[in-house]
Amino acid sequence: MKITVVGAGAVGASCAEYIAIKNFASEVVLLDIKEGYAEGKAMDLMQCASLNGFDTKITGSTNDYSKTANSHICVITSGIPRKPGMTREELIGINAGIVKTVSTNLVEHSPNTVLIVVSNPMDTMTYLAHKVTGLPKHKIIGMGGALDSARFKYRLAEALNAPISDVDGMVIGGHSDVGMVPLTSHATRNSIKVSEFISSERLEQVKQDTKVGGATLTKLLGTSAWYAPGAAVSGLVQAIACDQKKIFPCSVLLNGEYGLSDLCIGVPVVLGANGIEKIVEIKLSDNEKAHLQTSAEGVKKTNSLLDV
Ligand code: 2OP
Repeated sequence: MKITVVGAGAVGASCAEYIAIKNFASEVVLLDIKEGYAEGKAMDLMQCASLNGFDTKITGSTNDYSKTANSHICVITSGIPRKPGMTREELIGINAGIVKTVSTNLVEHSPNTVLIVVSNPMDTMTYLAHKVTGLPKHKIIGMGGALDSARFKYRLAEALNAPISDVDGMVIGGHSDVGMVPLTSHATRNSIKVSEFISSERLEQVKQDTKVGGATLTKLLGTSAWYAPGAAVSGLVQAIACDQKKIFPCSVLLNGEYGLSDLCIGVPVVLGANGIEKIVEIKLSDNEKAHLQTSAEGVKKTNSLLDV
């Protein structure tokens, strides 16, 4: 099982590390444009192999896509991260060009790959990948909802004063500070609806804190987060690589599902060896349906800035 991660920055390197530690892949290729950077990160990570007990072979490459040939899964993390006070959408001017080049190069060397897009603005970058690669729609996945759901669970556990392992919840919609739709009506504490434990006001605060989870960290760190984004995308990679048939909220191209078409936005999907095995349409409250619709309008507005 060969995985390529493009972008050896904090998110890409964390993703490669988590994939290696999970030990399901034979090979991870880390690629970056910065001379020697991916090679250095790969060597440093390989020197953890005996310490963290993995056999995965991690190699680095400076912009040589022939090294990525025949990858089963390719992850795109390359592009600039946001600075404090920026929205993800403001990154489109630089990141669109990078994602266009990277996705084209990856598919040229791995025509059967599943592509996972992380670069922001992620929903629009995922849509761009469809436009420029022509890969089948079930083979292009945007990672945002898995990360947002992890932040939702973190905030729910905090509000419930419960262990995170007891909490479940999902965020759908756009991966943006205003477009996320935390599904509070579905969230549970060990199969019990969380509304049994916390007030609607406290739940509203959980929703708001979730939506700005990325911006909160960017303000603290001076740049975008990387541990949870890297961990979230490594979970999608594992589900595909190991044909787990697990459900994740992912940004996928919709063609009528949820009443939406011609955009990529976060909805629940089953992930397996083929990539997107199935788009799952769940019952949403009227409020959640309205928020998803508004979120989709925001994503389409950002998509309209693309010149494809
Ligand atoms: C985040 O929310 C980088 O978009 C990513 O942290």
